Amino acid sequence: MELKEILESTFHSLPYGIVAVDKNNHVLLSNELGRAYLHLPSQAGVSLIESVENIPELDHRLREVAKNKQNPAFDLLAIPANGLFLTIRCRPISQGLALSIIDVTRSKQTERHMLHTMLEAQEEQRRKLSTEIHDGIGPLISTIKLNLDALKLELGQKPSQQALKMMESMSELLQTMSTEIRNISHNLMPNVLVDFGLVAALENLCHRLNSSGKVQVNFFHSGMRERLDLKQALGLYRIAQELINNTLKYAQANTINIQLIKHPSSVVLVMEDDGIGFDPAQLEKAPHKGIGLQNIQTRVKSLGGTFLLESQHGKGVLATVEVPTKNGSV
Ligand SMILES: Nc1ncnc2c1ncn2[C@@H]1O[C@H](COP(=O)(O)OP(=O)(O)OP(=O)(O)O)[C@@H](O)[C@H]1O
Ligand SMILES: [Mg+2]
Repeated sequence: MELKEILESTFHSLPYGIVAVDKNNHVLLSNELGRAYLHLPSQAGVSLIESVENIPELDHRLREVAKNKQNPAFDLLAIPANGLFLTIRCRPISQGLALSIIDVTRSKQTERHMLHTMLEAQEEQRRKLSTEIHDGIGPLISTIKLNLDALKLELGQKPSQQALKMMESMSELLQTMSTEIRNISHNLMPNVLVDFGLVAALENLCHRLNSSGKVQVNFFHSGMRERLDLKQALGLYRIAQELINNTLKYAQANTINIQLIKHPSSVVLVMEDDGIGFDPAQLEKAPHKGIGLQNIQTRVKSLGGTFLLESQHGKGVLATVEVPTKNGSV
């Protein structure tokens, strides 16, 4: 067999896609997998850029390469493309560019499944803890309150000023404790979310924050007629909780605006604050101890969505999460 034949049969039986294009982005040669992954027509000479408009990330990179004419090497890892997840690597060759394309859908799904399982176990623990606290400690506080009332009666008509003061302060402490415990239990597992959905749960959360008087929280929602599935609702709720928590901890903000908007095939959660802001790029450079933003990434990944956090010193924070709903993809 001639070398050319060997090369050709190797090229066509490779377990990944190969597409080579000339300097004008016209396809010089491609194997079957390459054409299948990118939905390319089989004739040579077609324009690659014009054929991959349905894969925006690849389209964008190829256009950049065509514009800049320098440093054409790039890697796109696990990008959504034609219903699959593809890893596409582009390298310069003497006549143009060569793209190698690997289907990583299975490993992406496995990763998503593992994240789901991990987060579900975490939620299950929270649910248990919430029930324990609510059902175990709640009644104890009520009993102490009853005993305190009974003690007042025991002390008769004229208890000393001192005793009255002590009882008053104990009563106040119990009230605070009871509110705190309800808040903790709520935060661990918002029953209102399970019973009435995400909009009700966020309304409830905002109401509790507004009553604390620390910050003004505005909540706006649109198109949320149908309930999301519980996994998505819980994920978005946890994300909102963490974003709000960060604002309360760091931002010194006066106002938080939260929006929840349903689009035909996705749902978008936007949170913005008017606080001191920060430089997100700094976090990537210098690893820090916090895990809140990382957890948001994990949750968004497990829901197959996207997370964008924009902030600058003095300009507040704008966080946008988009999650695909049934039949949708982001
Ligand atoms: N709304 C915000 N305003 C100002 N700075 C913020 C805001 N949100 C986050 N940051 C900055 O980003 C950092 C990372 O946030 P992240 O939630 O990952 O960690 P953390 O809140 O410090 O810890 P953890 O969430 O694990 O309790 C914070 O330490 C803070 O410096
Ligand atoms: Mg945090």
